[in-house]
Amino acid sequence: MRNSSWRSLLATSLFAAGLQAQTLDSVLSGEKTLSTFYSLVQKYPDIIKGLPSGATVLAPNNAAFVRNDQFVKNSPDFITSVLQYHMLQTKVLAGNLVAGTPVFTDTLLPSWTNITGGLRVEILKQGGNVVALVGGQGSRSTLVQGDLPFTGGVVQIIDALLVPPGNITITCQEYNFTSFEGALYAADVLAKDSTTANLTIFAPQNAAFQALGSAITSMSSSDLAKIMDFHTLNEVIYSTSFENNTEFTTIEGGKLTVSRTGNNAIFINSAQLLAPDIMIGNGVLHVVDNVLNPSSSGTPVESLATQMPVFASASSVTNLPFTSNILVSTTSASGGTALPTTTSVKSSSSKALAAAIARETGFAAGLMVAIGGAAMLI
Ligand SMILES: *[C@@H]1O[C@H](CO)[C@@H](O)[C@H](O)[C@H]1NC(C)=O
Ligand SMILES: *[C@@H]1O[C@H](CO)[C@@H](O)[C@H](O)[C@H]1NC(C)=O
Ligand SMILES: *[C@@H]1O[C@H](CO)[C@@H](O)[C@H](O)[C@H]1NC(C)=O
Ligand SMILES: *[C@@H]1O[C@H](CO)[C@@H](O)[C@H](O)[C@H]1NC(C)=O
Ligand SMILES: *[C@@H]1O[C@H](CO)[C@@H](O)[C@H](O)[C@H]1NC(C)=O
Repeated sequence: MRNSSWRSLLATSLFAAGLQAQTLDSVLSGEKTLSTFYSLVQKYPDIIKGLPSGATVLAPNNAAFVRNDQFVKNSPDFITSVLQYHMLQTKVLAGNLVAGTPVFTDTLLPSWTNITGGLRVEILKQGGNVVALVGGQGSRSTLVQGDLPFTGGVVQIIDALLVPPGNITITCQEYNFTSFEGALYAADVLAKDSTTANLTIFAPQNAAFQALGSAITSMSSSDLAKIMDFHTLNEVIYSTSFENNTEFTTIEGGKLTVSRTGNNAIFINSAQLLAPDIMIGNGVLHVVDNVLNPSSSGTPVESLATQMPVFASASSVTNLPFTSNILVSTTSASGGTALPTTTSVKSSSSKALAAAIARETGFAAGLMVAIGGAAMLI
């Protein structure tokens, strides 16, 4: 595991430049570890076209491209899109980040497959002065050199490529949220939830559906659609907005209430938040440990490792509900090793979830991205 913290070159760069900020071109060409990235920017100038003043360039170092040595063999469009996802529309200084409080920044990538707008990168300062950059599909990198100034903003050198977020289907498969994906499909809301802009989706883990069994699998498609719509908000809400007692209106019409306990556990109605802030192309997904019910909000019980079902006549099953109709990929298509966690993530079930995700992903395999139906190695 990497645990060395990033180094700030602010002081030395300013000194070298005689207190004059350099152009982006001279910063990139002057950094030996960025020669691959610099050559790609020269070859495909669209990567940095439209960078606003006050931007952040996430520059993957040469080691990042060595680890994904097939990346440069992709089409110019693909290379340009993935690297535009590394260009942030605001200036984020590593030195100003607050540990445990993630920031989510818009990128220059205008669209990705069918997804337009809202493609963001999460930046999270962790313990030990480590700064993690989190993209879509489980991709993650670490800041190795921070805050190199240039005339239009700042360059941050990172050690791995980030993957733009995929749609909900791809993301559910990446993280093994197969019952949730199957339930969206059975409720006939999967296409809507994939293509509507700016959504927040609460995705119950597989065990939450197993705990309900026929109490949910026997529902009509339209009743199930109401349940699924109760898991979706028409706005993008990151976990940083989960203040105690906040209410959010779902697209079903009913309200969800956030509650926080003394030990910093977070509940959405009676479901505990297990993994926050997984980015999807049209918003954000949060993993919870219970299926939410518009007819019964339930009361969270902090002492329980997993919350009790809030559906009458729940009876647990061992098979995975709703998965018979969907194609479950058995090989990972992901490049990440860890979840974007915050201090709120705890409990035995979240550990099991994190372990399952770590098992499923596996960095060594390289990053695979599905685009236009074909899997591409990046
Ligand atoms: C989700 O993305 C995958 C891969 O890009 C694509 O094959 C699928 O059609 C998309 N689903 C929807 C509903 O757009
Ligand atoms: C999605 O949110 C962004 C940022 O708030 C906004 O600019 C955009 O218009 C929204 N898109 C839709 C379709 O609501
Ligand atoms: C959240 O609000 C509830 C009800 O107002 C209160 O009992 C509880 O102590 C609050 N939690 C925190 C962490 O302040
Ligand atoms: C996905 O979840 C199921 C049940 O929770 C489990 O049996 C399976 O091993 C998981 N797959 C991966 C790749 O972790
Ligand atoms: C784009 O959307 C269309 C229509 O919804 C769908 O058929 C197609 O599979 C999608 N393509 C991708 C790459 O997501």
